[in-house]
Amino acid sequence: MSKNIVLAVTGGIAAYKSAILVRRLKDYGFDIRVVMTTGAQAFITPLTFQALSANPVHTTLLDPDAEAGMGHIELARWADLVLVAPASCDVMAKLAQGLADDLLSTLYLATKAPVWIAPAMNQHMWSAKATQRNLETLTADGVHVMMPDAGSQACGDVGRGRMPEPEVLAEQVFAYFQQKQRDLAKKVGILAGQRVVITAGPTREAIDPVRYISNHSTGKMGFALATACYAAGAEVTLIAGPVSLATPFGVKRHNVTSATEMLTHSLACIDAGCDVFIATAAVADYKVAEVATQKIKKSGDTLAIHLLKNPDIVATVAEHTRRPFMVGFAAETQHVEDYAHKKMIAKKLDMIACNDVSRSDIGFASDHNAMVVFFAQQYAMSAQTLPRATKFQIAEKLVESISVALTQLKHHRA
Ligand code: C5P
Repeated sequence: MSKNIVLAVTGGIAAYKSAILVRRLKDYGFDIRVVMTTGAQAFITPLTFQALSANPVHTTLLDPDAEAGMGHIELARWADLVLVAPASCDVMAKLAQGLADDLLSTLYLATKAPVWIAPAMNQHMWSAKATQRNLETLTADGVHVMMPDAGSQACGDVGRGRMPEPEVLAEQVFAYFQQKQRDLAKKVGILAGQRVVITAGPTREAIDPVRYISNHSTGKMGFALATACYAAGAEVTLIAGPVSLATPFGVKRHNVTSATEMLTHSLACIDAGCDVFIATAAVADYKVAEVATQKIKKSGDTLAIHLLKNPDIVATVAEHTRRPFMVGFAAETQHVEDYAHKKMIAKKLDMIACNDVSRSDIGFASDHNAMVVFFAQQYAMSAQTLPRATKFQIAEKLVESISVALTQLKHHRA
């Protein structure tokens, strides 16, 4: 996509991820010019970005090589988007204050292009009152914030403050321009007007106040689908279990913990109006019959916990009087296609995407996936094999299939 992106890199350990971000943005065909603050240059050299972006890197406000010595004005006009990633605590404060004493801060004030920031910092610095105040100011000023993920930090802490993975940032920039281009051309996307609800991630079933039953799902497939559905023009709601992923651009999100909560939110979304329901969540099959109110103390050599079957969310929604188009997922370790096909029929789904989670190069936690997709009998669509690709690429293919099946459904009903 021929759009110009100024990538501003500021001082933080996440700056190393920005090198990969340049690659991922270039994969989408964007032209990248990198601006580096002095702090950023302590972590990574301008030469790295020059080589990766194939453009000169800008580091100073008063640049004798820039046209009329005004690099900030040239860059401000050139940019279709200014992306500050990572955005340090200090830079957020500066931008919120409107200071103008270096290239990035002056560029920020001079540009008419949208500005996106991907904050990255120690969890305590992120939750500090001053940072949260600056975040509010920046949001009110129209800056789009790509919220940090939670997880382990370079400083040894565990908490919120990690910059989202470069692939995720690049996908979201791409989805934004795709949507914008379509708006400009007054063209509709293949899912325009469709209200899509996606369940994603694991569920967590409490045993006592400190322990729970869960699984290894990271939610990446569901989040990639949310981005792809938004890019295709849909109105998207994500019902996310406990995952440490940033909310995709343009997507509404509800956070839930248990399967019961996920079902309640799903049914509320169906009541509010939903055309397509995509169940990517790895819902725990069982929950604890009686959750202990106090921490269970260690006693005998064995401990029995009585489990009860959880509600089947996708099957419940498929029985609803306002049943939307239903898409299921099946993660299996053996007889993958056979089990998936049976699941599609048992749960009354329109289509099911299945993958083999015993493979370490795809599936859980991986950024890649490979799938086989089956369609219910009423669709004139044969099974599709989607070879190994990034989860976003797989998601785009699934969106195409959903759109084709929806068109067939419309013709059936007409
Ligand atoms: O866990 P299982 O293999 O049955 O999951 C198949 C599909 O059903 C998936 O789309 C999953 O999100 C959905 N599911 C659900 N509620 C459950 C179990 C599975 O929505 N309790």
